[in-house]
Formats: sequence, structure tokens, C-alpha cells
Amino acid sequence: AHKAKLFEPITCKSVTLHNRVAVPPMCMYSAEDGALNDFHIAHYGSIAIRGAGLIIIEATAVEPQGRITPSDSGLWNDDQIEPLKRVVDLIRSQGSVPGLQIAHAGRKASMSPPFIGDFIVSDAEGGWADDVRGPSELKFADHYPAPKPLTKEGIKEMVQKWVDTAIRADKAGVEVLELHNAHGYLVHSFLSGNSNNRTDEYGGSLENRMRFPLEIARAVRAVWPDHKPLWVRISATDYANPDSLGHDENGWDVYQSIEYAKELKKIGVDVIDVSSGGHLSNVKYPPPSLYQVPLANAVKHGANIPTGAVGYIHTGKQAEEILEKDEADYILVGREYLRHPTWVMEAGNDLGVDLNFPKQYTWALRRAR
Ligand code: FNR
Repeated sequence: AHKAKLFEPITCKSVTLHNRVAVPPMCMYSAEDGALNDFHIAHYGSIAIRGAGLIIIEATAVEPQGRITPSDSGLWNDDQIEPLKRVVDLIRSQGSVPGLQIAHAGRKASMSPPFIGDFIVSDAEGGWADDVRGPSELKFADHYPAPKPLTKEGIKEMVQKWVDTAIRADKAGVEVLELHNAHGYLVHSFLSGNSNNRTDEYGGSLENRMRFPLEIARAVRAVWPDHKPLWVRISATDYANPDSLGHDENGWDVYQSIEYAKELKKIGVDVIDVSSGGHLSNVKYPPPSLYQVPLANAVKHGANIPTGAVGYIHTGKQAEEILEKDEADYILVGREYLRHPTWVMEAGNDLGVDLNFPKQYTWALRRAR
């Protein structure tokens, strides 16, 4: 049988993934008061039996106002630990490593689930449009809530909420924690001059715009066990400059992302999961196939830190080539995993590697009749 890098185990701190395939966080907008339920058992269970090395559970809010929609996952209170632990234990029991993304939706909060519509949810329907947080008063788009700028006291309290959520994630048995710093949500909106026009020490220069995000990462790293990996997902550019490797000095671009990744590395962040965009509602994106891979490559070699590549990675051969060319260290496969939960097995076929996962299926599939 052939060998492929994609199927080599990879170890970070005390955690070993049995291959380089990770399923990225994907919101299911199906929680009740933040708590995961049987839908999530079915959904993550169907993924967990099918061979990805790592499964990162969807964006999970650090406070109720940090949800994108009223039905987002949350971990702002201790009652939410047990329902999360059910999913975490299930993932681990099937041979994958359980990860979790923690998040705050910032100025993109209090909206309807996308499968219902694209509108602000009223208070009567469980929304909180008059209590949405941001760096400044700038809206994400006309039909989104007007954020209230966080005060300095509010920033302090917010750092503590990320810390408390990380401690709960550890109690739930999560092994890889990812901080959501991408897609125009709270942390990204502080990083980018396209949304942050504060005049205090949290706005203006790159150093100032990174201050709150780095305070969160530093405080979380201090409580997240040393032996467990900490990932940070970034948007490496806002596409204010349509060239993904172009400059947007006063906004957000890949060169600032590299500087940010260097600072995260100093704090003890292990992996940068490199996404892009989601921040400006009126920009043009590059053609989709593998479009974020050059960004993962730029951050990996610019900041000398392991990265994850994500976005329209569809085949095992594409994934293998990214690893062979040393453009990234992990391959994240999102929607293609929803379309084809058998993605890992198909990638094995694609690369001529004989996989035996799950054994309950493969023996039967090899039989002639
Ligand atoms: C997402 N994405 C996403 N990203 C993130 O950081 N946190 C999240 O909770 C979500 N939620 C989410 C839900 C759904 C239904 C989709 C399709 C996507 C983005 C996702 O993790 C991934 O980066 C993109 O989907 C691009 O990868 P694929 O799908 O092209 O492999």
C-alpha cells in the first residue's frame, strides 16, 4: 500500500491525532439556551465514526450576547458543561480527538439562523439587538444591529469570560481549544482597522488593535492546561484589497496577520487555523478552490508556526499536495465532510492508501457480495 502524509499521525503537546484531517467548527444553530442536545449527538457521532483525526465542535459562545443567533452553542454557565461532555466523550470514544471553538459574535450577534433568514431577531423572539458589543459604533451591514463599544471595564470582564469558558471546556474533557478570532466576530473586529476606530489604547496602531485579542489569548493560555494544544482561528485578510496577498495597512491584511501570529506564538499558541474574510459585507472574494491555502502558507512561514489550511479542499490529492509542499500542517475539511461523511475513506482511495476505519464498515465493503 502507498503512504501518505495525510494519514501520518501528528503530535502536539500531549495530543496525538491519528491523521492530519480535522473537521472545522460549523455552527448548527440547534442548541437550547446554549446547551447541546440529541441533534448534536447524531451529527457529531456520524462524523466521529468516520475517521477524522480531530473534530472541532462549533463556535460556542462565552456569554449569551456572544451568540450569532439565539440557538447557538454556549458555555457561559456550568449547566452547559454536561451536555457538551456527552458530545466530547462520544467523539473520543470513536477514536477522534475532541476540540472546541470558543467565540464571541460581537457586532454580528442577535441574528436569525441562516436557514430561517437574514434578519435581526427581536427581543420578543429571544434577541438582544440593543445589547450587541463591538469595538466601535460601526455596524457590520445596514441590516445588522448597531454595536455598543466595549468600555475598558467591559474589556476586562470580557477577557475573564473567555477564561471562565476555557476552564469549563477543560472540565468537559475538550483536548484542543480553538479561539475564534476570525470572520468579523468580536476579536476580529478589534484587530481590523476596518471596524475598530477607537482612540484609546485598544485602537489605532496594530499594536493597539492587537492588545485586547492578545490579552484574551494570554489569559486563556494561563488557565488552559500546558499539555493541551491551543489553536487560534484568524481571518488573514478582510479583502478590502481584493488581492489576498495584497496590503491593507490601516485595515487587516496577511502581513498584520503574520505579526499577530508571531505574538500568539510567543504566548504559547500552538496552531493558527487560517481562514479569511467574513468581515466586510461588500468585498469580492477570490475564486474558491483552495483559495485560503496561500494565506496558510504565508502565516506558516512568515511567523514560523504550524498552520491549518481550510476552504474548498475537496480531494485527498489536493490535501496531500498541501502537506507535501509544506504549505500547512493540518487539513480542515468542512462542507465536503457534510456532503460526504466518508471523506477520509475516499481520500484514502484517492491516494491509494488502504484505510481500515471504521472496521465495522470496511470489512463489509471489501466483500465481493
Ligand atoms: C462554518 N464556518 C465556521 N467557522 C468557524 O470558525 N466557526 C463556526 O462555527 C463556523 N460555522 C460554520 C457553519 C457552517 C454550516 C459552515 C458551512 C461553515 C466556516 C467553516 O469552518 C469553514 O472554514 C468553511 O466552511 C470553509 O471550509 P469548507 O467548508 O470549504 O471545507
